[in-house]
Amino acid sequence: MTVATSIRIRQVGPCFAGEVEGLDLRRPLTTEEVAAVHAGMDQYAVLVFHDQKLENDQQLAFTRSLGDIEHAIGTGLRADSDTRLPTTFADVSNLDKDNQVFKRDDRPRLFGLGNRLWHSDSSFKPTPAKYSLLHARSIPSRGGNTEFADMRAGYDALDAETKAEVEGLICEHSQIFSRSILGFTDFTDEERARFAPVRQVLVRTHPVTGRKSLYLSSHAGGILGWPVPEARAFLRDLVEHATQRQFVYSHTWRVNDLVMWDNRQTMHRARPFPAHEPRDMRRTTLMGDGPTTPQV
Ligand SMILES: [Fe+2]
Repeated sequence: MTVATSIRIRQVGPCFAGEVEGLDLRRPLTTEEVAAVHAGMDQYAVLVFHDQKLENDQQLAFTRSLGDIEHAIGTGLRADSDTRLPTTFADVSNLDKDNQVFKRDDRPRLFGLGNRLWHSDSSFKPTPAKYSLLHARSIPSRGGNTEFADMRAGYDALDAETKAEVEGLICEHSQIFSRSILGFTDFTDEERARFAPVRQVLVRTHPVTGRKSLYLSSHAGGILGWPVPEARAFLRDLVEHATQRQFVYSHTWRVNDLVMWDNRQTMHRARPFPAHEPRDMRRTTLMGDGPTTPQV
């Protein structure tokens, strides 16, 4: 039997994450290549593609070949007149609409610092994100790694008692919770309404592999039926457990890297870098299949 694609994937992280060779993301993928990428995501949960010199529409075309795009509408603090990219992108750069680095106390910058906390993208939306695809257009001189934690390994390593305890629990997720951890609390009434909590299961089962994973995120600020301090202490312990070094892959960026991760199976966080240096990262996002649990 002939091999349908020339894609090769080798593991790069200590316990997960794969590096893909043999694919030029600037050209349309064949059906076999799309299937191979999905299979790679099912297995590795994070895939790294080096040397992909992509324009916006090429990144969008690759993203769309894998599923439906999640639009970035109403999720940040940039005013519509201040956006640098269309809503098909989540602008996770530190740049304003004129491509100037944000000032140290600019509000969108301070809000964006929430990305330094372990999280899963869009867990604050009723239908959370499936894959995120982050492309590096420019990177700082040092720092700025993105770290990924394998939430399947984190689940597997729980003791039996904790596995029984987390089963069936429902969490409340909101960007108000995650930002308040960093002391960012000056939300307007409109923002508080826009960032109202949504519900997510705490244990997810992968639809293809059947593997269970912890669905944690800094956005999670409560557990239904639990007193808030007890819920937050419990969630904090779970995050600490699931982000032990042996479960983490740290990606050191090169310009034109595209890194894709499965938000259902991983958490991630950005690491610090010199605040005055531009870091132009553009994220496209695939929608999940639906809510993880009914909303109120
Ligand atoms: Fe993120």
